[in-house]
Amino acid sequence: MPLPKYIKLVDVGPRDGLQNEKIQVPAKIKIKLINLLTKAGLPAIEAGSFVSPKWVPQMGNTKEVFQGIMQKAGVTYTALIPNQKGLNKAKESSCKDIAVFAAASESFSRANINCSITDSLARFRTLTKIALDAGMSVRAYISCALGCPYEGKVEPEVVSHIAHEFLQMGCYEISLGDTIGIGTAGDVQRMLSHVLLDIPPENVAVHFHDTYGQALTNIFVALQNGVSTIDASVAGLGGCPYAKGATGNVATEDVLYMLNGLGIRTDVKMSSLLEAGNYICQFLGRSSSSKTSSAYKLKDY
Ligand code: HMG
Ligand code: MG
Repeated sequence: MPLPKYIKLVDVGPRDGLQNEKIQVPAKIKIKLINLLTKAGLPAIEAGSFVSPKWVPQMGNTKEVFQGIMQKAGVTYTALIPNQKGLNKAKESSCKDIAVFAAASESFSRANINCSITDSLARFRTLTKIALDAGMSVRAYISCALGCPYEGKVEPEVVSHIAHEFLQMGCYEISLGDTIGIGTAGDVQRMLSHVLLDIPPENVAVHFHDTYGQALTNIFVALQNGVSTIDASVAGLGGCPYAKGATGNVATEDVLYMLNGLGIRTDVKMSSLLEAGNYICQFLGRSSSSKTSSAYKLKDY
């Protein structure tokens, strides 16, 4: 299959990245970061989450963030939500795109959202209907799609079943997350072969963490399967509070470098993306996890 000509890059850094920081990054810093990502041309940005601040205090200022960002027409600004309370908060914040999230393993589902996979899907079915009726759009995640920090191996059939459920609910895109970054190319091929039997590639996104340095290879396998939406995180920020040892998401800069090299259009401008990465790394007081960002610093482009 020829590689897609255009890739939609979804930057999840402001949520998936910053949820894992020890401190709560102030809203004004998140707002500037999101505005810089918008300026860089990202078509979709996950701006925060409306989850319980008792579980993830780092996301406690998401309402302020939504109120402060400049929302550019045509760009999607998403908030992750786990329940009705989160949906209400999203509505109050004039957020129009939400993401619901289930796991492909029971243990991770309990650790992350305190309920079984079946119960979570029943809850998300109701929430998705309410959100769609209110004119919102709904994205979905499946965590642990290639392995679970508690249970190990995850069967592709489980991922495929949950993805099918989300599609039936009316979710426009299902992001398959290798939450702990454990999968390799063969695992991705096996999992996608199952999922894509049932779901068109245009409704699928991939979400890789780079724990074992496999993320770019895994993305390439997804491209070969016709997937054209890639989640990534500026400066490789991230991890997951309920997946010990998971490193950051693949860095958006590194994905962009690969896609530029392949001649695939993204409409994202590297220099502005690097600026966004530098900005947040400077605030956090550490260097970027993006290899591309480090390489550009050494050269005089
Ligand atoms: P629970 O403790 O069972 O829920 O948590 P609860 O209903 O008993 O609520 C507990 C307290 O939280 C109550 O407050 C609620 O009001 C409050 P209290 O009465 O004790 O004062 N609460 C809320 N407050 C604000 N907004 C809300 C909300 N909900 C409850 N929405 C719950 C269940 C689902 C709420 C909890 O487990 C939770 O918030 N989990 C989210 C965890 C999370 O955000 N994890 C990280 C995201 S997943 C991820 O990173 C993976 C992904 O990126 C994919 C990948 O990387 O592969 C998606
Ligand atoms: Mg993630």
